[in-house]
Amino acid sequence: MKQHIKHHSITVAVVLGVLAIGAGAFVYSGIYNIGADDHHTKPVFAVMQTLRENSIHARSRNIVVPDLDDPQLILKGAGQYAAMCTQCHLRPGVENSEQREGMYPLPPNLSKARVAPQEAFWIIKHGIKMSGMPAWGVNHDDPTIWSMVAFLQKLPDMTSAQYKDMVARAPADHDMDMDMGEKGGHSHGGAADEDAHGAADMPGMQMPAKPESGHSHAAAAADGHDHEHAEAAPAVAAPLSMEGMKAQAVPAAEAVAQAFHTALHSGDRTAVLALLAPDVSISEGGQVQSREAYASGHLSEDIAFLKDAKITLVSLGSMPMGDTAMVGSVSDIQTTIKGKPATLRSTELLNLKKDGKDWKIVSIQWQSTPVSGA
Ligand code: HEC
Repeated sequence: MKQHIKHHSITVAVVLGVLAIGAGAFVYSGIYNIGADDHHTKPVFAVMQTLRENSIHARSRNIVVPDLDDPQLILKGAGQYAAMCTQCHLRPGVENSEQREGMYPLPPNLSKARVAPQEAFWIIKHGIKMSGMPAWGVNHDDPTIWSMVAFLQKLPDMTSAQYKDMVARAPADHDMDMDMGEKGGHSHGGAADEDAHGAADMPGMQMPAKPESGHSHAAAAADGHDHEHAEAAPAVAAPLSMEGMKAQAVPAAEAVAQAFHTALHSGDRTAVLALLAPDVSISEGGQVQSREAYASGHLSEDIAFLKDAKITLVSLGSMPMGDTAMVGSVSDIQTTIKGKPATLRSTELLNLKKDGKDWKIVSIQWQSTPVSGA
């Protein structure tokens, strides 16, 4: 028995020794072709693929995903993506790039494929060894990386025109001048009037706590405020900003928003609920409610509150994002609170999704601030 084990140990040692010598010879001899144009054999590729997938999965599965439907976050991500990612990951309407063509592994076309948010976040932050995918977390904070993740969730549904439109509206960034598609140089004055229109379309959209919102992006870039602007990461309680909204950008979605307002004001519960998607989330003063919770609680309160109020629409605008759209509006509500006349300025951000040919509201965010009285 003892003899047997000894015999085995010797065999194993010899085999290991031969393997080590072989590996050493392989590494030192120069026999391996490291060229990116010499692709891995199928078994090697399969092993690396499994290693990659399991490594990423193990490291990303506990990452907590923030609200990725925040339009400001998506818009910021559009600018980041256009500035740093398109040469490898392309954009709608572009099939390849000179740099990408020669890369191995080939960077996936992110305008065609969607990567799960947790994995996308981890990969963008940490990069992938020996692949050419950089670790953007080295010089970008987490909110900026989440902005790209949020944008990437929308990108595969976008047309080339929608993509360009979003990038043109994105907040200016220090490295934005790298790839702006055909609108190259836009943020440096090229199509500045378009942005200026955007702002002019939405009078009063400038929120007090974010005094730069009204700036055209071109101006923001020119006066050196660009960085500050880009770093204004959206927090949960940040004032809703209407940046990027343009009157009549998505007329059908705006019509739904207006029908929603009319239904609320006239106390038509059925009409209100008909416009809400089954999984709608409604957030008011930091509190998030489901459709059921809203229908059985706050909806009646809102109807009662608005019943005798005078509502003046200050501005309304929208922004297309693939198969979804955002509609933003600001209204002044004159009412009586505790017997005294009061005026509130109410800001509303709706996220709508096309359901067949109708748009349904999938999320609502409301904020209001007293203007006088209350
Ligand atoms: C120099 C080229 C290059 C640039 C620039 C680049 N990437 Fe990548 N990226 C890659 C490569 C190559 C891969 C594939 C790596 C692999 O599969 O092993 C990759 C993979 C990814 C993946 C995972 C895709 C999947 O299907 O799992 C995501 C997400 C991603 N990159 C996002 C980004 C973002 C966002 C940017 C811009 C901030 C960016 N990349 C910039 C080369 C690049």
